[in-house]
Amino acid sequence: MAKNWTKETFTLNTGAKINAVGLGTWQSKPNEVRDAVKAALQAGYRHIDTALAYGNEQEVGQGIKDSGVPRDQIWITTKLDNPWHKRVEEGIQSSLKSLGVDYVDLYLMHWPSSTDPTDLKKHYPDWDFRDTWAEMQKLPASGRVKNIGVSNFAIRNLEKLFADERTNIIPAVNQIELHPNCPSPKLLDYCKEKGIHCTAYSCLGSTDSPLAKDETLHSIAKAKGKTPQQVLLMWGLQRGTSVIPKSVTASRIQANFELDGWELTEEEMKKLSSLPDRFKVCGDSWLPVKVFFGDDE
Ligand SMILES: NC(=O)c1ccc[n+]([C@@H]2O[C@H](COP(=O)([O-])OP(=O)(O)OC[C@H]3O[C@@H](n4cnc5c(N)ncnc54)[C@H](OP(=O)(O)O)[C@@H]3O)[C@@H](O)[C@H]2O)c1
Repeated sequence: MAKNWTKETFTLNTGAKINAVGLGTWQSKPNEVRDAVKAALQAGYRHIDTALAYGNEQEVGQGIKDSGVPRDQIWITTKLDNPWHKRVEEGIQSSLKSLGVDYVDLYLMHWPSSTDPTDLKKHYPDWDFRDTWAEMQKLPASGRVKNIGVSNFAIRNLEKLFADERTNIIPAVNQIELHPNCPSPKLLDYCKEKGIHCTAYSCLGSTDSPLAKDETLHSIAKAKGKTPQQVLLMWGLQRGTSVIPKSVTASRIQANFELDGWELTEEEMKKLSSLPDRFKVCGDSWLPVKVFFGDDE
């Protein structure tokens, strides 16, 4: 039977339940995001995704307050920025202060890149993501972070993390780019096997996506009487991933949440999973270290 996805959650390896649908906020400008967050929460969203690197945590926090929805009914995810890897404690303090909350539900290592803050082209010679994770593992005990996870981790880096003798918490979540042009089935299977939930970012193909014009997608959407974006979100949900579409447009925020009581057939899922074009919106060329190795597909 078709699910009511707006009410669904996925259970993490900590027992916590993450709402299946959330609002993304990357590239949502501070002057737009406050209203977007408020509109989303008033439309029924209960999951907001932000990051220190997005430079909008303060306005996201204001939008949460404006909505009138009690804090304990909202799942908030934020992320540790790359140049903050040696300053995990400062990073979380900064995010909590900006958001105006006492705790976040999920704190992610944004990228497995311990970037030197004095020169963003350089990686620390004496520190990497395993050291950062060792620091992050101290956070849940403080109550200020309910769950910890990673983002943009490929199988190779997850293996490296697990091989470190200090690693005693399996990430609850790996937030990764996932859409029909980047389905990464191997990485999804690997995470499933390890008990790591995956959240799909750029689930609509991101800003000015060529995916939005894809003919196969449009024909499926037309046949179902849905928008291409609703079909993309349903594809992500039916693969067992949470989805965090970004929009600053109230009508789109509303439409992206119309995900109850319908589903894609197996054949429609298969068609979308086999689109010939493959690309990532978020590559690693801007980082001082390679994090994608082309073997997760
Ligand atoms: N962990 C990471 O490294 C990472 C990387 C990338 C993204 N993320 C997270 O994932 C979230 C989503 O990814 P994303 O921001 O890259 O892109 P996305 O959600 O795939 O796409 C956002 C784009 O789609 C447009 N859009 C939204 N709903 C639409 C609709 N119904 N019809 C037509 N266009 C629509 C938005 O425009 P308007 O806003 O103008 O309406 C925006 O241009 C981010 O916001 C962020 O929270 C995380």
